[in-house]
Amino acid sequence: MKIKSLRGTKDILPSDTQLWQSIEGVAKGVFDTYGYQEIRTPLLEDAELFKRSVGETSEIVMKEMYEFSDKGGRNLALRPEATASVVRAYIEHNLDKKEGLAKLYYIGPMFRGERPQAGRSRQFHQIGVEALGSSSPYLDAEMISLFVAILNALGISGFNILLNNSGCRKDRKENEERIKKALSGKTGGLCNECKDRYERNVFRVFDCKNDDCKELAHSLPSDIVTFCEECSIHFDVVCETLRELNINFKHEPHLARGLDYYTKTVFEVTHPALGAKDAIGAGGRYDNLIADMGGPSLGAVGFALGVERTIMALGEGLDAEEAGEAFIYIATLGEKAYKRGFNLLSELRNEGISAL
Ligand code: HAM
Repeated sequence: MKIKSLRGTKDILPSDTQLWQSIEGVAKGVFDTYGYQEIRTPLLEDAELFKRSVGETSEIVMKEMYEFSDKGGRNLALRPEATASVVRAYIEHNLDKKEGLAKLYYIGPMFRGERPQAGRSRQFHQIGVEALGSSSPYLDAEMISLFVAILNALGISGFNILLNNSGCRKDRKENEERIKKALSGKTGGLCNECKDRYERNVFRVFDCKNDDCKELAHSLPSDIVTFCEECSIHFDVVCETLRELNINFKHEPHLARGLDYYTKTVFEVTHPALGAKDAIGAGGRYDNLIADMGGPSLGAVGFALGVERTIMALGEGLDAEEAGEAFIYIATLGEKAYKRGFNLLSELRNEGISAL
């Protein structure tokens, strides 16, 4: 029996790698302009890292993370995302002491055991950015403008930026209680998954695809969620700065992210090529995560865009560069000419000329 690639994973063949390299090249060019440097972290981490950051009760950790014991009995995970790994590396290597603000980017595969479908795979790839060491709302706006700059440089238009305030930990706790109270007595109308979400993370009910849940959640008065003065001002500055940068966005009060580490600004970028639900990329601020993981108390913000979904949004948009294609072809007839051709190929290549 032939061994095939695993369901939800894909070979990226030479006919496609040029497009991938072009996308990565465009992103790297934009990162250079914004002063971001690359970080490469392991694909394999202690599973505890994601439990403590993404959240023990999040869907990603509970249902999707590839978690296993190795032969030494260590509890490991294939990274489902890279923010946690970057924060771990930031703390482990004292990057906060080396630079005031660490501006880092990464490109690579992530793993989530989701049901494979268009735009959803088990090994997928992200181009992500993290700025660690600042609580400034201007950095949130810069992050979104960096996201837009990448999409513009790739020639992707027609995307929508959805923005929301998720508040600080105290706001979140209070809002959670208020939403739970408003929904109590009505939980019978929620799907089984949302009944569970009601207990674990009630904000996720807003994110459910089930029409009944959506209707119930969206029927709650908009002022049910409130924020402290600091978080309100922070969000106002982010919105104001984006307007000054001429970046269109929509404040989406029901936007909830499925990772537990977010505070204050959260955002998602959607595109019609992906259908209503899936985002091309998403991110937000995480002001407690560095301290929670044992580092200094410093704010941070970041995002990641999915490469497969970027390709879907591109459609026929980006011409893969022709780099890699042979520039000169040499055809020979007979043994003597073949030898001469062979030597010529070597000479051309030594001169840096692509030849085949
Ligand atoms: P996320 O929303 O879980 O955020 O993932 C970001 C992007 O990765 C999604 O918008 C999507 O494009 C892509 N993605 C996620 N899951 C899949 C999948 N199964 N198949 C294909 N593409 C997928 C994060 O991962 C955060 N770490 C983002 C972040 C960085 N927040 C702050 N810094």
